[in-house]
Amino acid sequence: MHNKPAVLVSRAIFPEYLELLRQHFEVVSNQADEAWTRAQFIERLQGKQGVFTTGSERIDADLLAQCPDLQICANMAVGYDNFDVPAMSAAGVVATNAPGVLTETTADLGFALLMAAARRVSEAEAYLRAGHWQRWSYAMLSGHDVYGSTIGIVGMGRIGQAIARRAVRGFDMRLVYHNRSRLDAATEASLQATYLGLDELLASVDHLVLVVPYSPAAHHLIGAQQLAIMKPSATLVNIGRGGVVDDAALAQALQAGTIAAAGLDVFEGEPRLNPALLACKNVVLTPHIGSASEPTRKAMVKLACDNLISYLTTGRALTPLN
Ligand code: 8YV
Repeated sequence: MHNKPAVLVSRAIFPEYLELLRQHFEVVSNQADEAWTRAQFIERLQGKQGVFTTGSERIDADLLAQCPDLQICANMAVGYDNFDVPAMSAAGVVATNAPGVLTETTADLGFALLMAAARRVSEAEAYLRAGHWQRWSYAMLSGHDVYGSTIGIVGMGRIGQAIARRAVRGFDMRLVYHNRSRLDAATEASLQATYLGLDELLASVDHLVLVVPYSPAAHHLIGAQQLAIMKPSATLVNIGRGGVVDDAALAQALQAGTIAAAGLDVFEGEPRLNPALLACKNVVLTPHIGSASEPTRKAMVKLACDNLISYLTTGRALTPLN
């Protein structure tokens, strides 16, 4: 008799997708959403051909050496800085991510943070809740305009382009961008996007949106030196990955008025935050909820499950990284 392959689901997921996996595999799950240590994770991976991961589980050469049965790691995230892809390739393990399904939802949050930071929404709410709103005043909580201003997008992949469409079509913004590689002329024309070098972009934008994946090369891409180039009226939004911005330098720039405001969904060393950021009034903070709408989270889980099913039953992954 043919045994079903075995898979591990590292975190709690929508129950219907656990059921889907059970139709194809012997499944060990974590519906209690326990915080496993790495040793516990590795122990539960023994004898598993596949694993469903989130951005929190690190897959590297050390783990792979201890999990010889593993054939595929399916990440429920578009980002995959938790995967050492070359080590996975060397071990013959397929890596998959979850691109495409979260693009618009994440772009929506990017725009929400941009609007909230520029118009001081969190600060205004805190002011109101604290009972400070006693009378109208001409300059009370005045922020910076989004409509008709200049937006700079660094990281012009799917999500960056979705933000670009919102900016240009919805808010009549002038759009400049920076990316590792320049977009083709047709895409630039359709987005009305102008390519700039990073420093030139930083100096010219009213609002900066970062959608850069983390890599050692992108570490502290935006630090004190870069922040100093920006306009004092500028807003910075990071919805890509923590570590791309030097959070300590950002907190200092926000305190000093080097830039006006920030909106952050991702942080260095999250879920811990640099306490200096928490002390800043002019920053809107969200706990990495970029993709957090129910339909999108379901689509992400489904894509990771479909990758496991497709690869372990037909040998072909849907969205392979290697
Ligand atoms: C995930 C993300 O929620 O897709 C990504 O890269 O950062 C988020 O959408 C997170 O990584 C959990 O897997």
